[in-house]
Amino acid sequence: MTLWSGRFVSGPDETLWRFTTDTSDRRLLVDDVTGSLAHVAMLGEVGLLDDDAVVRIKEGLEHVLDEAHAGRFEFRDTDEDIHTAVERRLGELIGDDAGRLHTGRSRNDQIALDLRLYLRRAADHRVEQIQHLVRVLVDQAEEAGDTVVASYTHLQQAQAIPFAHHLLAYAWMLLRDADRFVEARGRIDVSPLGAGASAGSALPLRPDLVAESLGFRGSFENSLDAVSSRDFASEYVFVAVQTMVHLSRLSEELVLWATEEYGWAEYDDSYTTGSSALPHKKNPDIAELARGKAATVIGDLTGLLSLQKGLPLSYNRDLQEDKRAVFHADDVLTTALAALTGMIETARFDPPPPSSWVVALDLAEALVARGVPFRDAHHAVGGLVAALKAEGRDFTDVTAGELEGTHPQLVPEDVDLLDPKGSVEARRSPRGGSFQSVADQIGELRSLL
Ligand code: ARG
Repeated sequence: MTLWSGRFVSGPDETLWRFTTDTSDRRLLVDDVTGSLAHVAMLGEVGLLDDDAVVRIKEGLEHVLDEAHAGRFEFRDTDEDIHTAVERRLGELIGDDAGRLHTGRSRNDQIALDLRLYLRRAADHRVEQIQHLVRVLVDQAEEAGDTVVASYTHLQQAQAIPFAHHLLAYAWMLLRDADRFVEARGRIDVSPLGAGASAGSALPLRPDLVAESLGFRGSFENSLDAVSSRDFASEYVFVAVQTMVHLSRLSEELVLWATEEYGWAEYDDSYTTGSSALPHKKNPDIAELARGKAATVIGDLTGLLSLQKGLPLSYNRDLQEDKRAVFHADDVLTTALAALTGMIETARFDPPPPSSWVVALDLAEALVARGVPFRDAHHAVGGLVAALKAEGRDFTDVTAGELEGTHPQLVPEDVDLLDPKGSVEARRSPRGGSFQSVADQIGELRSLL
């Protein structure tokens, strides 16, 4: 039986049932029961239920909770949604008193509550997972020691940097994502229960008591807003998607680094896959799928926003579709974080040195330090690069004499500048690609974690 059959003469058509019921809310079972326990306690406290009824309903709900935790709760095809399933089971356990649970409540404020409870907890888990990945990146950065690679712009080698500096860039991005989850959590952490179907109730409800017992920082300001707003869900999904986009960029590099052409990384057998056709291959499928799945969660976010854009106040059934997007985006992020963390933790990074060209700016800056205008210095070094390239040579075999011929202010000792590691050692600017900067970042990240 549905929760609303009173004014209906006939039962629901089979096609209506198939179209309108949704089983994706089943994962809200524990949250739904938790919310009901707080609700029934409040009903008792304001005198809407007598003590006996409160005790019986609580015992029944706790039994349902045990079944839920033990994975023994049985759903039926006739359960319209999670709320119906719980009330139906409660009725089986305690009889008619189950009918008192929904006093002063609607599924509209109830579903908003369930989703907020779920996402509040999920946000905490995602923060922990992200912090774990950041820790792994910091460990790998430390492991990288004084290994020097090129930084890239336009995917062209740019300047010499410690490999650790590159890894740590992702640590900072991900730490901001964790921060965003914390901030989104603050806006999720508001109880909508007591808003009822749309405008509250004539009964002496105390939304503040429910909010307090569920550990919310407060309860809703406006009942229409409480049942119809999903900005808290959009924000959560945005943060999940932004995190996936960061993971996708990192994944793209993990894929590149494992190529024969780069040769920067080798991934553990347990985090790679083979080819059914090519016996020699070891494929970075985790990274490729993280990149691919990032596309699907971008779809979740646009879907969720589109869902809300045309809705009049207050609750509309369209909102049932929010869960599909929220759960999919969060599930993808959860598994991507776990898989990539393992893949990076077990990876062996051993990048070869960069090309000699990455010191070109250092040579120009040596001239600038001697008073030469940067534009002139740039031009002179550019000329040397062009001449060397024309001869099929690079900076490694430049002679002191050739340097002096490039610009009168260059001296024979400047050949020492033509070493990528020396270039990193000479770097001064704060938080740039220097060994000191890397040490500072590692220290700061460790204390932030
Ligand atoms: N299944 C609905 C949802 O997910 C719950 C609220 C239904 N409310 C209603 N009046 N039909 O949004």
